[in-house]
Amino acid sequence: MKRILSGIQPSGKLHLGNYFGMMKPCLEWQAQGEVFLFIANYHALTSISDAAFLRQATTDVALDFLACGLDPEKTAFYRQSDVPEVMELSWLLSTVTPMGLLERCHSFKDKIAKGIAANHALFAYPVLMAADILAVNSNVVPVGKDQKQHVEVTRDIAGKFNQQFGETFVIPDPQIRAEVAVVPGIDGEKMSKSYNNTIEIFGEAKATTKRIMSIKTDSKGLADPKDPDTDNVFALYKLLATEAQREEMAARYRAGGMGYGDAKKALAALVENHFGPMRAKREELAKNMDYVEGVLKRGAERAKAVAHETLKKARKAVGLE
Ligand code: ADP
Ligand code: TRP
Repeated sequence: MKRILSGIQPSGKLHLGNYFGMMKPCLEWQAQGEVFLFIANYHALTSISDAAFLRQATTDVALDFLACGLDPEKTAFYRQSDVPEVMELSWLLSTVTPMGLLERCHSFKDKIAKGIAANHALFAYPVLMAADILAVNSNVVPVGKDQKQHVEVTRDIAGKFNQQFGETFVIPDPQIRAEVAVVPGIDGEKMSKSYNNTIEIFGEAKATTKRIMSIKTDSKGLADPKDPDTDNVFALYKLLATEAQREEMAARYRAGGMGYGDAKKALAALVENHFGPMRAKREELAKNMDYVEGVLKRGAERAKAVAHETLKKARKAVGLE
């Protein structure tokens, strides 16, 4: 059976990009694999320096995943910081990581280009990510396209370590679904909380509809035929629609006579239909934080058990034991 691992930083409200790019693929693996999913709070420290914010965001992500269908019996769901073995593993991995490999990472380069002051944690970010992945011997890492390079770095680091110290780590594969590799935001760019262009999955219904109504479209008039394949509204609509709904909507685009406003309303209805019941579940869960805490504790125990064994193997391989 395959082992699947992914993580997400608790750094803001989760959005449709996160949901289709990473959450949904992970949750679907529950039916056929052994899933490890964690809240990357060590990683979040590279951008958050407000303790109360980090705590709240961590709780929010836990509630979001449970509301979206994470089954704690099937998935080991944990906070990264409850498995500190990954930190030690990260150090061991950093000794075989060339500087150049990290210097080439787009995510690091983009942040520097944006003027974010570079600290060591930001630079070493992919090494800790490699430790997350390798600690639990995962085979598959479901992520959006922006994280692909980080998984490739993980493969490089694991390969180098294995070569230098003998077979120690499983080499993982990234899993990126073409149709959700890059979910567009309301401005047509990649949906990202850093671009302020998101549609939150658990935003308030009215606010969500407002966001949807402000999605950027071209300036074709009501009567004009429209191209569904280049439109941002349709790009989101098709992620939530059934095949029949998708085809019908595409035909209405092409026929003309339908304004973008109508397509947006139809999208808003699908979003509410999909996330409304999950929002209700989230509200119930939020009343029972002891349960949520118990899930995270149990998940951490499961991850720790595996990570402990991997770390032991790595410590032996390098000569610490
Ligand atoms: P953000 O860009 O909002 O900060 P993160 O970098 O925290 O999002 O991404 C968390 C996970 O969600 C990653 O696996 C990432 O690849 C995926 N993801 C984020 N945005 C998108 C998107 N627009 N399309 C597809 N996947 C996405
Ligand atoms: N870097 C990922 C992100 O920002 C989060 C992450 C940390 C992760 N460790 C991971 C994802 C390990 C997959 C596997 O989205």
